[in-house]
Formats: sequence, C-alpha cells, structure tokens
Amino acid sequence: MNDFKGMDILDGGQFSREEIEHIMATAADFERRLQQQRGLDLLRGYVLATLFFEPSTRTRLSFETAMHRLGGAVVGFSSAESTSVSKGESLADTIRTVDQYVDVIAMRHPQVGSAREAAAVAEAPVINGGDGAGQHPTQALLDLYTIRAERGRVDGTTIVLCGDLKYGRTVHAGVELYKHYGCRLILVAPEPLRMPPEVTARLRQQGLTVEETPNLEEALAQADVLYMTRIQKERFADPAEYERLKGSYILTREMIERLRPDVTVLHPLPRVNEIATDVDDLSNAAYFRQARNGVYVRMALLALVTGRA
Ligand code: NCD
Repeated sequence: MNDFKGMDILDGGQFSREEIEHIMATAADFERRLQQQRGLDLLRGYVLATLFFEPSTRTRLSFETAMHRLGGAVVGFSSAESTSVSKGESLADTIRTVDQYVDVIAMRHPQVGSAREAAAVAEAPVINGGDGAGQHPTQALLDLYTIRAERGRVDGTTIVLCGDLKYGRTVHAGVELYKHYGCRLILVAPEPLRMPPEVTARLRQQGLTVEETPNLEEALAQADVLYMTRIQKERFADPAEYERLKGSYILTREMIERLRPDVTVLHPLPRVNEIATDVDDLSNAAYFRQARNGVYVRMALLALVTGRA
C-alpha cells in the first residue's frame, strides 16, 4: 500500500481505520529495526523542514530525530523571530519558498487552519505539528500507538480525557482516531474548557459512546487509559481565567492506587502541575515511553509520505 506518497497529514479525521493500522504497523517495524541498528539509510538524500512558529520540545525534536534515524537531513527554525516572517512575510510565501528546498515540511503555527493553508501552496507533503487549538494528528497517532503498546489493544478501551478539552489540539485529533476503535470516552473538564459541543455531538452520531463529568475520581475509577492534558495557558485572552482554572485537576499516586491501580496514564507533555511527580515511578505511568514512541510514529509518517515505506 503506497497511497500515502505525497499525502498531507493535517487532521486526525482524515484517516480510515485501515490507514491508521498501516501507520501503526510501519511504526512498529521501525521500532524493531532500531533495536538492531541505530539508524537506517531509507531517506538518504531527502530533506525535512521543521518550521515551528510556536514553542515545542517533543514534536520538533522527535521529528528531527526521526529524520536523522532514517538517514535524511533536516533544516528549519524553532521561532518565527529569526525568519523573514518578522519582516512581514506571509505564511504562504514562506511555505512556497521552503517548498523549493525540501521534500517534506513539518510545521507548527498558532493559527487554526495554518497547516491546511500551507498544504494548499506546497508541492511537498505538509505534516501538521499543531495548528493553534485545532489539530495535532501526529501526536494522536503516537498516543494510539502507545495505548496499543501498553495495553495490547485499542478496541473497546475506556479512555478518560481530562483537562483542557476546549483548546487542547491533541485531544481534538485523538477522538477522531478513537472513533474507529469503538472506544468509550469519558470527558473530564472544568465547565469553561469542555470539549466543543459540536465535536461531542458528531462523535455520538458516529456511534462513539461519549460521557461527560467534571469529576475526575468518578471517571478514573472506570478508566483503562487516563489521558491528562495541560490547561493551554497561551490560548487564554484573560490571564485571570487561566489562574482560576490551572489547578482544576491534579492526579496523584494516592488517587491511582485507591481508584484504579492498573490504569495506563498518558500525557502529551509538557506537564505543568496536573500530574504529581510521585506518579512517575508507577510502572503504568507511560508518558515518557509515549514521547519515545513519537520517534517511531514520525519515522513511519516521513517514510510513508515520501513513498519510501
Ligand atoms: C502538545 C501540543 O503542543 O499541543 N504538546 C506536544 O506536542 N506534545 C500539548 C501541550 O502543549 O499541552
């Protein structure tokens, strides 16, 4: 199957279950191959651009690691200030220019829809590494990969999504994947940060079981997977509102041991205060393994969209 060649990766909702499974299998293959050798030659001569107009640690560095491990090269920037955007250049012109240089573009930008805008003007495949409060499909794919790796299966899993479900782009992309696996979703958020109602309504129409509660303990007691998220400070117009909401949910080791000792704990990271550090030593705290899986999944995506896997 090579339908991925040239494909833009923009939105969790763009994939069929078959496509998701193919990405997962390709990622698992790269994980196995990296156990035997530190790097491959598959993308020798290819160049990836990482254009990050917003802060990033994991997404950018794991994309770059993935490209290096595939034998390819990377150019890019990690803030717009050092680029001609600061002189007033448009996103479209920046993308058109970079498109002259590279084979794949991975980008992050504060504006919803920016990756789609870039894809419309670029010949090279564009991979969305986060567009404002919109989508973050590569994170969602690595989250799914991690659920499979940690629990053996995704089908029928009860997944609790907790935190900022309004602005959190990782959960916006994630639900679009979980809908293919008959998952039961329990959404836990403070009232102002609930999942947009049109998303919840659409997921229910598509046959997904979606429940909502503001009570983390009640949800945790039923969870196979607890996916914690950060309150997205940078999306708030009113800093006082952020201050009021930032301590809404704090997961502790005591809560897990009391309510659901074998729950798998995920977090896209960065963590601020929503998971106490005493959770980290639990064997089911999977968030750093989750970050590692980002390399395998991004290797798969890079190899697929260049037509090399
Ligand atoms: C997430 C993001 O940027 O949306 N981080 C990531 O890519 N791992 C989550 C967040 O910033 O809270």
